[in-house]
Parts: sequence; C-alpha cells; structure tokens
Amino acid sequence: MATDLTSLVDADAGLLSRRVFIDPGIYQQELERIFARCWLFLCHESQIPNPGDFFTTYMGEDPVLVARDSQGKVEAFLNICPHRGNRLCRADDGNTSSFICSYHGWTFGNDGSLRAVPNLRDAYHNELNTADWGLIPVAQLEQYKGLYFATFDSDAQPLIDFLGEATWYLDVFFDRREGGVEIIGGMHKWVVPCNWKLPAENFAGDSYHVAWSHLSAIKAGFVNSPSQQAKPGGTMLYTGNGHCIINISPDNVTDPPIPDILAYENEIRGEVEARLGERIQKVNPIVGTIFPNFSIIRTTGRTFRVWQPKGPDMIEVWAWTFVDRAASPEVKEAFRLAAIRGFSPSGTLEQDDMDNWQECTQTSRGAVAKRLPLNMQMGLGHEKFDESLRGWASDHRLSESNQRRFYNHWATMMGIDTLAPRA
Ligand code: FES
Ligand code: FE
Repeated sequence: MATDLTSLVDADAGLLSRRVFIDPGIYQQELERIFARCWLFLCHESQIPNPGDFFTTYMGEDPVLVARDSQGKVEAFLNICPHRGNRLCRADDGNTSSFICSYHGWTFGNDGSLRAVPNLRDAYHNELNTADWGLIPVAQLEQYKGLYFATFDSDAQPLIDFLGEATWYLDVFFDRREGGVEIIGGMHKWVVPCNWKLPAENFAGDSYHVAWSHLSAIKAGFVNSPSQQAKPGGTMLYTGNGHCIINISPDNVTDPPIPDILAYENEIRGEVEARLGERIQKVNPIVGTIFPNFSIIRTTGRTFRVWQPKGPDMIEVWAWTFVDRAASPEVKEAFRLAAIRGFSPSGTLEQDDMDNWQECTQTSRGAVAKRLPLNMQMGLGHEKFDESLRGWASDHRLSESNQRRFYNHWATMMGIDTLAPRA
C-alpha cells in the first residue's frame, strides 16, 4: 500500500509532520523520488587529480564509484558488480587501472568496461557478451568549480540550471581566489542516529540555535561572540530548487578567532571582494545546503559535508576540510585545525548539533508525538523576493523561511500535490 503523503508539510501555515523523520515508507519514497532524481555531490576534483584515481561514495543508498580513467576522463558508475551484485570496490579511494570483483573475479577497466571473466572460454563457452555487462554508469555527471555532481535521472536539468542562483553563493566558498580550493587532510566519516533532513535543514536556515545550543563553545572562545553574530543585516535566502543559504551582515567577523586566519582574511579581502563583485558588500554567506544533502560552512573552519542517508533514523556524515589553494601551508594548517576543533566528530559545535538532531529524531517515534505537528512559523509571511540577492529573503537575520521552502520543495519532489502552488 502506498504511503499517505498528504498533511506532511504545510508551508503556508508553517507546520511539519514528525512522520517525515521516522516513517520507513516515506524514507523509501525519498530514495526513489529525491535521491534517484536530484543532482548529488560526489567528490571534489582535488580528490581525483590523476589518471587512474578513484573515489567511492553513495548516491542515496546506491554505492557509486567515481573514476578518472587512463585518458583523464572522469566517470561514475554503480559500484556494484553486474554478475551477482557484490560491492565491487571496497576501498575509500586510490589509483588503479582495473577493479577485480572479490566474489568470482570479473574484472573491469577504470572506464567501466568488463575486461576479463574467469572461465569465459570453457564454462561460458565464449557465449557471454562482455560488451553488455560493464558497470552501470550514472545518467549524467558534471562539475561546478571543481565539485563533481551526478544524477541517475537522464531527464534532469543540467547541473548549472539545477544550482541556478545558488552558484554565486557557492563561489563565495569555493572560488574566492585564483585556483579555487583543495581538500586537505583526510575525510571524517561517522554515524549519527538521526534523519538526514535534520542536519540539512539546520544548515539550510537555522541561526536560531547558535546562541543557545552553542553558547558554551561561544563562551570558550571557539566562535565569535553572540553580539557579533547578532548584528542586524543578515538574511535567510532561498535561491530555488531547495537550495538555502544563511547570510550574516557583511560587517560581522565570521572567521574563527585564530590570529593566522584573521591575518590571512584581512590580507586577501580586497582580492576576494573584487572577484565576487558587488553582492558581497550586501551579504556574507556563511552556511548553506544544496538540496538535498550537501551542506557547507565557513565560520569555525571551512568544511563541507554530505549527510548520507542510511535508513529513516540514521545517517553517515562524510565531512571534508577545504582551503584556498593559494593560501600558505601555515594558513591551510590553521584552517584544518579550526575545522577539527569546531566541526568534526570531536568538534565542539558538531557535538552540540548532533545531540539535538538525534533527540528530534528519536522523539518522533511516539504514537502521540506523531499526531502533533512541529512548528516552523518564525517570520511567516515576512520574506520577499530580493532582486539584488536573487532569492527569497527574510526580513530578519533569524527566520524559518528557509525551512518552510526547503520542506515545500521536498514535498513537491515527493509528489505531494495537495499543496497550494508557491510564488
Ligand atoms: Fe562479481 Fe560474481 S559477483 S564476479
Ligand atoms: Fe549548530
């Protein structure tokens, strides 16, 4: 029986059903209707710079192998052996010309072609058409400023249209200086017992929790003071297709209070402002979510992450630290340490957030709790389209306008047709 999706999201009233965080049927439909259709982040180009480099990840719950073939072309395939379904490559990353399945030994080139099959001549009588049994490629693969995205939907709009007006906001993170950014250090992966939408919506538009959940970190000096955070002029911005950005006032100090980082930012300010243009005088984008599950932050260190769904009430967080390629080794190290202190499994702020997301998920299990809507009414009706920012902007630095539009887009993707169309 199909899951009843009506009454889950009422963006006009600012109400949300707890079922979206816990219902197995809803989760299965998300895998079909969102994760099998949206453009999803795979990896950054600095992770696969050379021919033969590969990286393994997930699109929804489908394992995916990203490989730069021997000619230098980047491709992505289901990381599944077509013979009997074994997960083909078990390594996180590496460099190779071929992938050998651990079950029966079928061997694939880094271009996805099936190159060798044990006992092809005697047991298969040379009758297996190996050209038909290569790895299954994603439908589309593209990159923006070194960020590789893919989709399983051959009809999906081009990546540049999917990102739309969010591209300038991504540039603020990934294209501030000539040469863009690179990943430094390893990747952090850890499990959190929460629904994937809770961190996605938190990064999409929740400044409300900062001065409260993170008060101890603020008092300990990990981030700038609440008075800095609270300067007027910030706005929540929805740029379309589910993408949301948190902006603070341009005269706020956004960087961690670390001398090497503050000196570096001071030194490059003119260059960055010239590159990003006039808009950077109006807003300072610091956190955001590219729908559905790719989030970015550049306050306490620079990190981006994917909230990998692992069931309705479980995620794996995959997090990377990124820095301007043009920065000095000392500055890069300062950013790496700042990210680890703030946003990593041991990060002070990350632990505050994880605890909240876990409890919000777990309380949604109760029979009575499930009947009661959640509230996302802050600033309801007080946002308008801002031509200069190219998106729907709240009139206050604190608002749940982005959450309302995030969930409204989610509902649209899920095929919930009971909602009134939004402007
Ligand atoms: Fe891979 Fe059989 S499952 S070779
Ligand atoms: Fe937080």
